[in-house]
Amino acid sequence: MLDQINQLITEISGFNATTPEEVEQFRIRHLSKKGTIAALFENFKNVPNEQKKEIGKALNGLKTAALNKVNELKEQLCSTETDKTGIDLTMPGDPVNLGSRHPLSIVKNEILNIFSRLGFTISEGPEIEDDWHVFSALNFPEEHPARDMQDTFFIERHPDILLRTHTSSVQVRDMESHTPPIRLVTPGRVFRNEAISARAHCIFHQIEALYIDENVSFADLKQTLTYFAKELFGADTQIRLRPSYFPFTEPSAEMDVSCSLCHGKGCNVCKGTGWLEILGCGMVDPNVLELNGIDKNKYTGFALGMGIERITMLKYGIKDIRLFFDNDIRFLEQFTTAI
Ligand code: DAH
Repeated sequence: MLDQINQLITEISGFNATTPEEVEQFRIRHLSKKGTIAALFENFKNVPNEQKKEIGKALNGLKTAALNKVNELKEQLCSTETDKTGIDLTMPGDPVNLGSRHPLSIVKNEILNIFSRLGFTISEGPEIEDDWHVFSALNFPEEHPARDMQDTFFIERHPDILLRTHTSSVQVRDMESHTPPIRLVTPGRVFRNEAISARAHCIFHQIEALYIDENVSFADLKQTLTYFAKELFGADTQIRLRPSYFPFTEPSAEMDVSCSLCHGKGCNVCKGTGWLEILGCGMVDPNVLELNGIDKNKYTGFALGMGIERITMLKYGIKDIRLFFDNDIRFLEQFTTAI
């Protein structure tokens, strides 16, 4: 039996193949259930006990040699295949990197989702606007210093055409095209003639909300703001309203939220105050309702507006607004979301 084994080992080690079919035939001849090696294992039970150790070892060696030969030939034929076509069909494909959402889109979607849960629907307007929609219909009087609140990019040859400085212009378009009840959120890009720095940019994004109906009160505004702040920054968030001025709202306020980093104790993000300024808001000025053809004796409303960059910077601890516009993949790939 030992002779038989040695003979097969020599035969196997000398074997060569040029096609996969030959390898398969070789495998069937030696390694299948009815092959030479299985037959030897079958005979093994007749081997006298004192020879079992030696023959068993040789038999295992034979089986390993046959398996190795099959693998070796398969590999060899595979790479000859590569040589012919110049393509290695066994190579894994290039991984496709999945993109991630821009942080501004993540926060914008979060804010829009919160308002949609309150029944607000999304509305959008043009970025290139006219004076009426950005200023006049919002109660900014001609030549009034309030217009200087926002450094406007005008089109040189046509002073009536400008890049919108705030999404409040979409309020005007909404009032033109809808009758109350109006409940809309308007996300969009806005433009201001500002020097670019870590804190300011000439392009940024805002979200505006407008609600007009019978009997809308300041209490409705406050409740909406409270819900919004808790949804966006966490259930333990407090809000604070400070009196302010906007030409299109009366009364007007600015809303602060308790600093989500130090929980109101004071840190360098909230500059030790415990509060972060988030948005402007107020009751729609009756003049604005009148200018836009809505009966000011029947309807009241509230409006609010916020900068998406500012909120995103606070939420993620981003210190430089310019990072949003650089499109540096090392910055962008840090933001992942299920939205
Ligand atoms: N439009 C204002 C700005 O860009 C923000 C704002 C304040 C919008 C109060 C509003 C509002 O709707 O009621 O600074």
